[in-house]
Amino acid sequence: MNKAIIDIYSTDYHNNLYENYAALRTHAPVYFDQRRNTWMLTRYDDVRAALRDTKRFKSTGTSQDFVPQLQALDGIQHTRIRKEVISEFSQQIAMNLSPRVDRVVETLFKTLNPSFTTINILTDVIHQLPRRIVSEFMGFPNHLRQRWYDLGEPMVGLDPNNPQQPSATLFQDMIDVVDEAVAYKRKDAGHDLLSWLVAREKANVFTADDVELVARTLGFAALDTTINLLANGTALLAKFPLQRQHLIDNPALLDNAIEEMLRIESPTQSLPRRLANDVELHGVIMKAGDEVSLLFGAANHDPEKYNQPDDFDIERKNFDHLAFGFGLHKCIGQHIARIEARSYFSALLKYHPNFLVTSHRWMISPWARAHAELLLSHP
Ligand code: HEM
Repeated sequence: MNKAIIDIYSTDYHNNLYENYAALRTHAPVYFDQRRNTWMLTRYDDVRAALRDTKRFKSTGTSQDFVPQLQALDGIQHTRIRKEVISEFSQQIAMNLSPRVDRVVETLFKTLNPSFTTINILTDVIHQLPRRIVSEFMGFPNHLRQRWYDLGEPMVGLDPNNPQQPSATLFQDMIDVVDEAVAYKRKDAGHDLLSWLVAREKANVFTADDVELVARTLGFAALDTTINLLANGTALLAKFPLQRQHLIDNPALLDNAIEEMLRIESPTQSLPRRLANDVELHGVIMKAGDEVSLLFGAANHDPEKYNQPDDFDIERKNFDHLAFGFGLHKCIGQHIARIEARSYFSALLKYHPNFLVTSHRWMISPWARAHAELLLSHP
């Protein structure tokens, strides 16, 4: 196994993801992926310890540090910005979004044709929800929204049935559209997050660079992650019908069920760090300067941490999963994602309790667990 080559760009790898993770955890817990020139850590304790150890496992300078982002900052620069921004992502602020989220979800489900035989739940509902909610929350100008959405999709990965490469300028195009949104807000502020950022800039709390950095982070982080939670949870409810029925019979378990969805099909499967020092782990020396991928998705299936980790159990209590990361960089959008998920799954089970998945395809993504296709039907 230590010598084996894991090809994370193969369809087979993604179709058998958890078997591959189990093999890595058991036989090569510190595995070097030659193709991507990165170490891969897959055991829960190792991934969590690395997330904690921000002195040696740095967020800056990784292969995903293609654009200045909050999650790619270290030290006081990161703490200073995060300390300010986090107040705008509190649980209370997310709760305040809840009635609006419920209205959008109702509209999306009611717009589906009741006599359908097939629903493209991915395009017709799932993509729409985070887009509407987060665009409004951020105050992303209407005329720029579609461009933003179109750029986000190919960043997640490749559909193996439709393997066109994303354009070389994709990241720059994304930066441009977010920067345009910020520039617009500097002239025409409202009551939204981008306007709040701009106001903090005017008050000299943030620099112009800080504002663009936070806005770009959201441009990259806020949509597809939630889309993947909704799609992955839908597929899980189809794959485990007894658990779905248990949830329908016990709707109070929904919050628990969402945590279990996050654990078992973590939308963000891995993120990288760069080593500041040599690190020895399980007898392997990783050198200063090396990149290390922390596989949240594999850690969340570690049998040393979770009993029967591949079972979807909506009553599972041990919920310190790593789907939102851990420590200094833990996701600040987690409450918003949970509010969207709660509303979406309530409506899905209300309107289509017996849905079946008729077609389902994983994307080939180095970092996400994402659907390229998800079609539903009634029995
Ligand atoms: C199910 C949905 C989501 C998942 C699974 C997710 C996952 C993550 C993870 C794993 C990190 C940690 C990054 C690291 O350690 O390097 C993170 C950070 C972050 N997320 Fe999320 N995220 C989700 C939704 C959102 C939403 C809805 C927003 C904003 C509206 C958001 C904004 C952010 C930001 C700004 C950071 C950077 C925090 C920092 O570096 O201090 N995320 N997210």
